[in-house]
Amino acid sequence: MAGHRIAVIGGDGIGPEVIDQAIRAAEAAAKKHDRAELSWNKLPWSTAFYKQTGRMLPADGWDTLAEHDAILFGAVGDPSVPDKITVHELLLPMRRKFDQYVNLRPAYLFAGVPCPLVGKKPGAIDMLVYRENTEGEYAPIGGQLYPQTADEVAIQTSVFTRRGCERILRAAFDAARKRPRKLLTSITKSNALVYGMGLWDHAFEAVRKDYPDVKSNSLLVDACAMDFVRKPEAFDVVVASNLFGDILTDLSAAVTGSIGLASSANVNPTKKFPSMFEPVHGSAPDIAGKGIANPLAAVLSAALMLDHLTLASSADAVRAAVATVLAAGAVKTPDLGGTATTTQMGDAVVAAIG
Ligand code: NAI
Ligand code: MG
Repeated sequence: MAGHRIAVIGGDGIGPEVIDQAIRAAEAAAKKHDRAELSWNKLPWSTAFYKQTGRMLPADGWDTLAEHDAILFGAVGDPSVPDKITVHELLLPMRRKFDQYVNLRPAYLFAGVPCPLVGKKPGAIDMLVYRENTEGEYAPIGGQLYPQTADEVAIQTSVFTRRGCERILRAAFDAARKRPRKLLTSITKSNALVYGMGLWDHAFEAVRKDYPDVKSNSLLVDACAMDFVRKPEAFDVVVASNLFGDILTDLSAAVTGSIGLASSANVNPTKKFPSMFEPVHGSAPDIAGKGIANPLAAVLSAALMLDHLTLASSADAVRAAVATVLAAGAVKTPDLGGTATTTQMGDAVVAAIG
């Protein structure tokens, strides 16, 4: 029996609601398929915690998190507190502090989920987007002069390092190598952003030489956006900068049915620090507390966590259970056109795991 220590931050809004179901599914699968023990350390860090203490997490919070093997995260964000605090003092610093440089966002068209694109068969869309998660356009470098005056000046700088580009490219190539189609598309806009994205292209040309078994090409982001809609089945592994990866994965989530199904992993492949697993969606204040949020994005994020903990059979079992429930179509939350509650959807997944 292996013990895995998992820190749980449910956060705000629907975060804790969906995370509870993710925990149930992961527990059921890990027990049955890997005879593994998972321990869950629920941490109350959220907007409520901020209102009580003036901080999103305690002074020793990062040290506490670092003692865990993984972090399962719901969402933060509350209409009563600016995102500049909730998102920028907990979620974004975590990705950099723990050097979670791989943001993995799968997009898969499940049977039973209506696709907004005409004529796409289940499984036809099956891609993994690797988004650079620690630098690029989201590096907090810049400043404002004479803010909120007519003379206002702002500088926002992107940071591209050869090391940063090479490591995300290698992670993506490693993933492509393990998939049946062995295809990789690198996304830039180096015709316009010649310096930073030019460096990315140099890194791509260097790294691809180490992966002769992977068929790789480079595509400009605008063409990629068009092709995600026009022929998403052409993509297998996609690797992109922080900003482009963020935007493209909203598109990949949209063409595969619902934001309520989009999962993600923020991975430090060296395992020097814990990796963090979270649904792509936010705290959804409009439906929070109603018990109708779709928990499957969180459940599928927990499956990515099980992969990372090398509990591959359990991870596959969770994904298979989600596929079974969606294909059966009897239990669906409102975002999928049904009337089921968050808990009923969780029940159905646990039952399918068996
Ligand atoms: P959102 O993802 O929370 O909601 C967008 C829309 O999708 C809403 O209509 C919501 O009801 C629906 N939705 C989202 N998740 C759903 C689910 N699991 N089941 C059914 N419907 C779902 O994005 P929004 O409204 O822009 O942001 C709300 C708050 O969340 C903001 O404070 C934002 O900053 C924060 N946020 C936090 C993120 C995080 O913690 N990783 C990510 C995105 C937003
Ligand atoms: Mg986004």
